[in-house]
Amino acid sequence: MKPKEKIILTGDRPTGKLHIGHYVGSLRRRVELQNSGLYDKIFVFEADAQALTDNIENPEKVRQNVIEVALDYLAAGLDPSKSTLFIQSQIPELCELSFYFMDLVSVSRLQRNPTVKTEIQMRGFNGESIPVGFFTYPISQAADITMFKATTVPVGEDQEPMLEQAREIVRRFNNIYGDTLVEPNILLPENAACLRLPGTDGKAKMSKSLGNCIYLSDSADEVNKKVKTMYTDPLHLQVNDPGHLEGNTVFTYLDAFATDDQVARETGDYATLQEMKDHYTRGGLGDMKCKKLLMAVLQETLEPIRQRRAEYEKDIPAVYEILRKGCEVARAAAQETMDEVRKAMKINYFDDRALIEEQALRFQK
Ligand code: TRP
Repeated sequence: MKPKEKIILTGDRPTGKLHIGHYVGSLRRRVELQNSGLYDKIFVFEADAQALTDNIENPEKVRQNVIEVALDYLAAGLDPSKSTLFIQSQIPELCELSFYFMDLVSVSRLQRNPTVKTEIQMRGFNGESIPVGFFTYPISQAADITMFKATTVPVGEDQEPMLEQAREIVRRFNNIYGDTLVEPNILLPENAACLRLPGTDGKAKMSKSLGNCIYLSDSADEVNKKVKTMYTDPLHLQVNDPGHLEGNTVFTYLDAFATDDQVARETGDYATLQEMKDHYTRGGLGDMKCKKLLMAVLQETLEPIRQRRAEYEKDIPAVYEILRKGCEVARAAAQETMDEVRKAMKINYFDDRALIEEQALRFQK
C-alpha cells in the first residue's frame, strides 16, 4: 500500500538500562527524527513481550527494566508530546495480527533468518528445544512494525533480517488479501562507528553480561573511571611508538561522539579529529590525552541526559502515566489497523451489513 503518512516506529527490549551503544546506534537518531518535524507520527515502544521470549523465568527483570528504559528514553530527549511511548504487552492486537501472520511464513524461512540462527547458537538451543515463541519472534516483530503502518524503522544493522522478514510478510499479505499493509524501510545509523559500538574492553559488542558498558545513567565519575581503563592499542607501549586506530576503542568512540569543533576546543592542539589521529599513528601522542578528550566529549553528551533523568526520577508515577497514555494512543491506532485487516481477511462478520443481508437472501428459499 502507498503510505499516506510518514510514520516512524522503533523499540527496544527492556532487559537492561540503555548504554551509549544504544545512544549512538539508535536513540540519538530517534530524537533528531522526532525534532525534525518531517514525520507525521512517531512510535517508540518497549518490547517487553519479546524480551520475555528469552527471559521466560525472569519476568521480574523485564518488569524492573521497563521503568529504567522509559527513564532512558525521556532522559535522551524523547518527548511524550511528540512521540508515542508505549509498552508492547499492553496492545493485545499485536497477538492477533501475529496469529494471522503465522500463516504467511514457513518454518524453513524462519530457520533461515540470520538473527534467529545466531541467537539459537548463542543461547545454546539445540535442534528443536527452542521455544516456539522465541523461534517465531520475527513474526511478532513484523506485527509490531506493520500494526502502526510504519514507513521508517530506525534500528541497528542487526535488525536488518527482521525488516526483510516484515517486508516479505507485507507483500504476501497484500498479495492475498489486497492492499492493506505498508512495507517498512530500515533506517540505519549513518556513521560506521555507530553501527555497533564496541565495549570498553574492545570486545565487539557492549553487553551487560560482559560488564563493558557505559550506561546513560552512569555518574560522571563512573564514566571517567570506565574511560581510564578502556582498551586502546596494545602495541602502543611508549608515547613515541606509532599507534594503531584499527580496533582502538577510544578512537571508535571519538568517531561516534566527537565533532571537530569539540576536538579543537578541548585539545587546543588539533583542528580536527583526523589531525589527532594522524599524530597518534605517527607516534608521540599518549593514550591518556586521547582519553581526556573522550571524557570531555562524553560528559558533554551525557550531562544533559543525566539532568533530565534526575528530573523524571523525582516523579516516577508520572512516568508510568506517560506510558499508560502512550499505550492508549497506540491501542487506538492498532484497533484501526485491525479493522482493516479483518475486513481484508473477510473475518469482519458483524461489521458487514451486506454480508448479513446476502446470507439472509441465500437462505430465504
Ligand atoms: N528486536 C529489537 C531489539 O532487540 C526490538 C524490537 C521489537 C523492535 N520489535 C521491534 C525494533 C520493532 C524495531 C521495530 O532491539
